[in-house]
Amino acid sequence: MRQKEIQLNSDELRSYIDSVGYEKDNLLEQLRKETQDLGDESIMQVGSSQGKLLEIICRIGNFNKCIELGVFTGYSSICIAKGINDEGRLFAIDISEKYTSIAKKYWEKSGLDHKITLILDEAINVLDTFIDDGLKGTFDFIFIDADKSNYIEYYKKSFDLIRSGGIIAIDNTIWKGKVFDNDDQTQSTKTIRDLNMLISNDPMVSQCIITMYDGMTLCLKK
Ligand SMILES: C[S@@+](CC[C@H](N)C(=O)[O-])C[C@H]1O[C@@H](n2cnc3c(N)ncnc32)[C@H](O)[C@@H]1O
Repeated sequence: MRQKEIQLNSDELRSYIDSVGYEKDNLLEQLRKETQDLGDESIMQVGSSQGKLLEIICRIGNFNKCIELGVFTGYSSICIAKGINDEGRLFAIDISEKYTSIAKKYWEKSGLDHKITLILDEAINVLDTFIDDGLKGTFDFIFIDADKSNYIEYYKKSFDLIRSGGIIAIDNTIWKGKVFDNDDQTQSTKTIRDLNMLISNDPMVSQCIITMYDGMTLCLKK
């Protein structure tokens, strides 16, 4: 039987998902509107149903101790903070004061700010510091959504920091389809393509790529 092709990023599908695809949250919608005022940069924000998925993963995993690489204006950090326990902690890492000043405002409005520690530094430095401080194998959940050029290093260091049974989630792993376009040899595409290959051959993780928005990989450490 012939199947209808579904274009995953069509306006039609997006508007359908926006009508019935996830539980609505007024504050997150307000944050999305304010982020749109930043112009083209707003495209960096995670999708709404993707944010809800991050929350659900943290809740069903009973996750407590989390890291986010790439805060931007705080959408995904609010979702993660909603999903973790009340005594949980999210270390939210970014280099931009401009973007994270918006995030801090919304963390406060959400009443979740007591669970979030902002670290303004290069993500690599922070991961190295956690490793040097003896925190290997102690984190429940790590969300990688910062600069693509460092994705392989982020994955390797996150793998060291995550505990067995914890999850590393990596955003943009389909990279608008560029990962399967072999004519595209730009650095960011090659890095994500190499990371996808590395993860698919890593016997220490159970993994899948979720085809929502720009693709998100989930890696469960064995
Ligand atoms: C795709 S956005 C993150 C989106 C965010 N997760 C959300 O839900 O809206 C990427 C963020 O990574 C930050 N970033 C870029 N390079 C970085 C680095 N080397 N270390 C830490 N953060 C970095 C940028 O400032 C930007 O805010």
